[in-house]
Amino acid sequence: MAKKKSGTTQLIALPTGGAPAINIGINDKDREAIAKGLSRLLADTYTLYLTTHNFHWNVTGPMFNTLHAMFMGQYTELWNAVDPVAERIRSLGHKAPGSYAQFGALTSLADAPTEPPAALEMVRILVKGHEAVARTARELFPVADKASDEPTADLLTQRLTVHEQTAWMLRSLLEE
Ligand SMILES: [Fe+2]
Repeated sequence: MAKKKSGTTQLIALPTGGAPAINIGINDKDREAIAKGLSRLLADTYTLYLTTHNFHWNVTGPMFNTLHAMFMGQYTELWNAVDPVAERIRSLGHKAPGSYAQFGALTSLADAPTEPPAALEMVRILVKGHEAVARTARELFPVADKASDEPTADLLTQRLTVHEQTAWMLRSLLEE
């Protein structure tokens, strides 16, 4: 906006004032604790995504067709899951981690083995991975619940359902 004054043109700054403080009814301490837990869940989910995609590429043996296709379904689901987790962290007013260094420091999962293991060992690693992500999600649940953070509780419930069901399906491949 410009205004004429004494023959010169001056720019009048529009009020900016910065964004107002977050006020969604969850206190700062709880928002921080939940964001930290969600960051661990994000790192776990991303790490499991990458391991599953790795196994999709590198699986060999008589179960190739079954596992190659099954791993594709699983890594696609995990890939789609990272975005809502990261965006929930942002909605709580915190920054979402998004680098290999941050994920490596935050995740409870081991990195994928450098040398691809045998097919059923891949399945074993993924069972343990899905169970580890479920434990991370479950640990956060009472924190979100106590803070009346329903969107996070809902997200955690959805992630728990997927990880526990996937662990069961993978585990079934290992049972007689
Ligand atoms: Fe592929």
